[in-house]
Amino acid sequence: MASRIRVGIAGTGSYTPERVVPNAYFEEFLDTSDEWIVQRTGIRERRFAAEGQATSDLCVEAGKRALEAAGIRPEDLDLVIVGTLTPDYPLPSTACLVQDRLGATRAGAFDVAAACTGFMTALSTGEAFVAAGRAKRVLVIGAETLSRFVDYTDRGSAIIFGDGAGAAILTPLDECGQGEVLKTTLGADGSGYDFIHIPGGGAKAPPTHASIDAGQHFIKMRGRDVYRFAVSHMAEMIEEMLEGYDRDDLTLIVPHQVNRRIIDTALDRLEMTDEKVMINIQHYGNTSAATVPIALDEAARAGRMEKGKLVVLCAFGAGLTWGGSLLRW
Ligand code: COA
Repeated sequence: MASRIRVGIAGTGSYTPERVVPNAYFEEFLDTSDEWIVQRTGIRERRFAAEGQATSDLCVEAGKRALEAAGIRPEDLDLVIVGTLTPDYPLPSTACLVQDRLGATRAGAFDVAAACTGFMTALSTGEAFVAAGRAKRVLVIGAETLSRFVDYTDRGSAIIFGDGAGAAILTPLDECGQGEVLKTTLGADGSGYDFIHIPGGGAKAPPTHASIDAGQHFIKMRGRDVYRFAVSHMAEMIEEMLEGYDRDDLTLIVPHQVNRRIIDTALDRLEMTDEKVMINIQHYGNTSAATVPIALDEAARAGRMEKGKLVVLCAFGAGLTWGGSLLRW
């Protein structure tokens, strides 16, 4: 087997829409309160895309910022991979729209469907292409416009989600000299497919007037079941990523921003404090595939990662799916 090329993260970028939606917004039409939402989730506000703004628009902004941070031109990209559960269209992929809008004229483009694990799946796939010498510069994005798929009559799920996009550029490590991807892992358990799902609108139940009237095209979530699944997988994945490495070398954990209590419970299990954990759920809610790359970008720009030290990324979600990565920053 040819030797594996070491892969690094040359730059990151993120974008969240301008419209800030505080918890109080939901008090107007749901039996809920700012206090309940803050206590049970840690969320204070989230961003909603403007009318006409869709996932590809968020991707383009995040992608431009990542390209700028990496000092790479769009025409130098070999591949654009978008992780999303809220594509602009069922067909074609959002990645193709992004490839065109960025002017990535030489790049292949495709989406990955792994829900909240979308960015981790895009990262893992992009890393494999670069490591195998099949691509040199890969733009990986996690992006969502969840506000269009939320059931605003369901207080158990409507308050959780937000819109946004985050991106990273992968290149051979000897080109960028930072953010080495040391490990990636992906997992799935499709027996839990209905923990979080959109029952209508696909091949199994094509859209009809009746299915739309019944709200079958909105996200349905078994919140408690997701909660239990999330707590155990977050702790396990962080442990798995750090296995064989010295915990003292850890500079930051960037977890899926799913619920502040889930993060805290996982940290308790690991006997860790939140000092080395990136948390921004209070501002953005759960942006699904976008949480990890937005948090990674904000952490990088805030200088929260010490060079040469370890960074753990982890996410999980519908499918069920999960994915983790260990980086040396
Ligand atoms: N406001 C007020 N009360 C609410 C509420 C809201 N927005 N949402 C649910 N409740 C009520 C429930 O109806 C229930 O009332 P009851 O005891 O009278 O039946 C009570 O609060 C407890 O509900 P429960 O679902 O057990 O709450 P919870 O503590 O598990 O919190 C979630 C609910 C959704 C916040 C939590 O389960 C969660 O974050 N799950 C993960 C969801 C997620 O992010 N999934 C995305 C993919 S990873």
